[in-house]
Amino acid sequence: MLNLILEDCKKQLSAALIHKKHPFRYLTLATIKKDGGPKLRTVVLREFNPENFEFAIYSDIRSSKIEELKLFPEAQFLFYDSSRLIQLIIDLDLKKFLTELDIYNLLPESSKKDYSSVLIPGSEIKSPDEVQHNIKKNNFVKIVFEAKEIEYLKLKRPNHIRSVYSVKDDWKGKFLAP
Ligand SMILES: Cc1cc2nc3c(=O)[nH]c(=O)nc-3n(C[C@H](O)[C@H](O)[C@H](O)COP(=O)(O)O)c2cc1C
Repeated sequence: MLNLILEDCKKQLSAALIHKKHPFRYLTLATIKKDGGPKLRTVVLREFNPENFEFAIYSDIRSSKIEELKLFPEAQFLFYDSSRLIQLIIDLDLKKFLTELDIYNLLPESSKKDYSSVLIPGSEIKSPDEVQHNIKKNNFVKIVFEAKEIEYLKLKRPNHIRSVYSVKDDWKGKFLAP
């Protein structure tokens, strides 16, 4: 059963790359701030490799998460499927930042805007209309993470199911008291 749960997680994470409405398409990314405090934000899952548990997201290289990850190269992902009542908490190490242009160049014009604002993300502005983009001067970055632990929780009657899988344990997994 432990293995079936992990296989289902992999299946759902892979499905989230294809289906725009999949609940795992958006995740909460946690990093550690310079002052040691936590920082959360929503991001889109862009890549997942079920063979080596690598994940990738896209971002603006000038955003705060980049500095935070350079300082503390680890993160957590939180996925939640509200219809199946499944929560996944994934501990990850930062693997690399990739600024190769081939991905950016293939993005539709509307998506290019997400990585080409003239102002640094988080800069104070007087009005949302002040924002300008220069899609020829992008700040695109692909952030690649490698999972080291996956915790699964499914709420169900009569018993909730909680299990944890770790790279140290060769992803064999064990059940935990919910
Ligand atoms: C629905 C939604 C999807 C988002 N997707 C991304 C994303 O894929 N990458 C990203 O960098 N920011 C994304 N954001 C914006 C982040 O939540 C965050 O505000 C921004 O990246 C700045 O974060 P930082 O200053 O902590 O680095 C998304 C926000 C929302 C509401």
